Amino acid sequence: MNTRADRLPGLGEAGRSGVEGGWSSRFAFVMAAAGSAVGLGNVWKFPYIAGEYGGGAFVLVYLACVALVGLPVLAAEILIGKRGGGSPMESFRELARGEGSSPRWTSIAWLGMLCAFLILSFYSVVAGWSLSYLWQASTGALTSAEPGHIAARMEGLFDALLANPTALILGHTLVMSLTMAIVVKGVRRGLEKAVRLMVPGLFVLLVGLVVYAAVYSGQFGAAARFLFAPDFGALTWDAVLVALGHAFFTLSVGMTAMMAYGAHLRGRVRVAPAATAIAGLDTLVALLAGLAIFPIVFAQGLEPGAGPGLIFVTLPIAFAQMPAGGFVAATFFLFLAIAALSSTISILEPVVEYLERRPAWSRRRATVVMGSLVWAVGVLSALSFNIGSEYTLFGKSFFDCLDFVTSNVLLPVGGLGVVLYAGYALSRRTLALELGIGSDRGLFIWRSLLRYVCPAAIAVVLYRGLVH
Ligand code: TRP
Repeated sequence: MNTRADRLPGLGEAGRSGVEGGWSSRFAFVMAAAGSAVGLGNVWKFPYIAGEYGGGAFVLVYLACVALVGLPVLAAEILIGKRGGGSPMESFRELARGEGSSPRWTSIAWLGMLCAFLILSFYSVVAGWSLSYLWQASTGALTSAEPGHIAARMEGLFDALLANPTALILGHTLVMSLTMAIVVKGVRRGLEKAVRLMVPGLFVLLVGLVVYAAVYSGQFGAAARFLFAPDFGALTWDAVLVALGHAFFTLSVGMTAMMAYGAHLRGRVRVAPAATAIAGLDTLVALLAGLAIFPIVFAQGLEPGAGPGLIFVTLPIAFAQMPAGGFVAATFFLFLAIAALSSTISILEPVVEYLERRPAWSRRRATVVMGSLVWAVGVLSALSFNIGSEYTLFGKSFFDCLDFVTSNVLLPVGGLGVVLYAGYALSRRTLALELGIGSDRGLFIWRSLLRYVCPAAIAVVLYRGLVH
């Protein structure tokens, strides 16, 4: 199967050692990739869109989107990185040489890099909110409201945070500094070490929260029904498209992050099962997050469809009225911060690797320069909530613009490039070899998903993203 002879001609171990370190095991890789996938998307966005779009039926559609579209794109991205073995840019160039594909595909990597840069800049601002809430929960300030004034206070707190440029920039700066401190150490000594600590911690905190929600709220059954009992009457076309778009974001695909992670894989790793494990863990976390949040929300008679404020306003309202609420709130926002940080490192990694190769900068220099540039753009996002709020583009703030362009345009275009590449430019043999699929039937299914199902689904998302 995947012996040394199957490696690309131009990129033996010598070439690969240019990519420092590498994951120490398949398990380390799966953990790092799961850490990347599990983030604000799972804990902040998934519950609130599930809430907005009515629960069960939406969740079912989302699961189908992850399995039929997200998973093949994820596998394709890891596979391209693994086969190419370099930074995303180099991987495409190597593949052009080794597989005879056109070097023009390299533009996918360019696009991905740009997208990573932009996403990180505003993602880090939102991650900063979780640090700010973690701080307020730890000092007890978050849950100290007088009964009767709780709802107004929580809304006031969130509005006050957004209106405060110093607080936003401080949180953003902290997140970027932590991210850079991890990335600068490299894959094995930085990223892997960090995720070995963060990912298990994340699961422990989450399970603790679910158990708390189940025991204290008395609403676990209602939450489970809300999430799992489908009412297809409530399902709209819009909900289907939101579910599909979110499947990309939550799996971290479409902007070469997973490609960079895949490039550090060594030896005999079958990509299909690894990608399935990553997508499975990501989905598990999203569902568990729902099962931690909704019982608490329901127990206080609050509404599940509050939108983006669900975990920053609705949930704190509930915490303030629950037993041990301050402690639980701190646990929740710690969980959120860790989930965000294990994602930000994966977004910075491909961008840093690029600078490390091209101008051949040291890792330190590449990290500091890129991290600072991302930070500077992020500051604009932070300011667009307050002093810069009157500067709008197409009626959207700078923050909303970046979110819109990346999620609705760049990520789907990047994902489309990746599946087309894997489905059409790579040989059937290479695909079978790297996916680790032995049976013709299995390979036929994977290839059909890559060639037809994914491109069609992505085209629909793109269309609606642009025309909407
Ligand atoms: N998947 C992460 C989340 O759910 C976000 C993320 C990390 C991401 N890396 C990415 C999104 C790459 C798109 C592309 O929060």
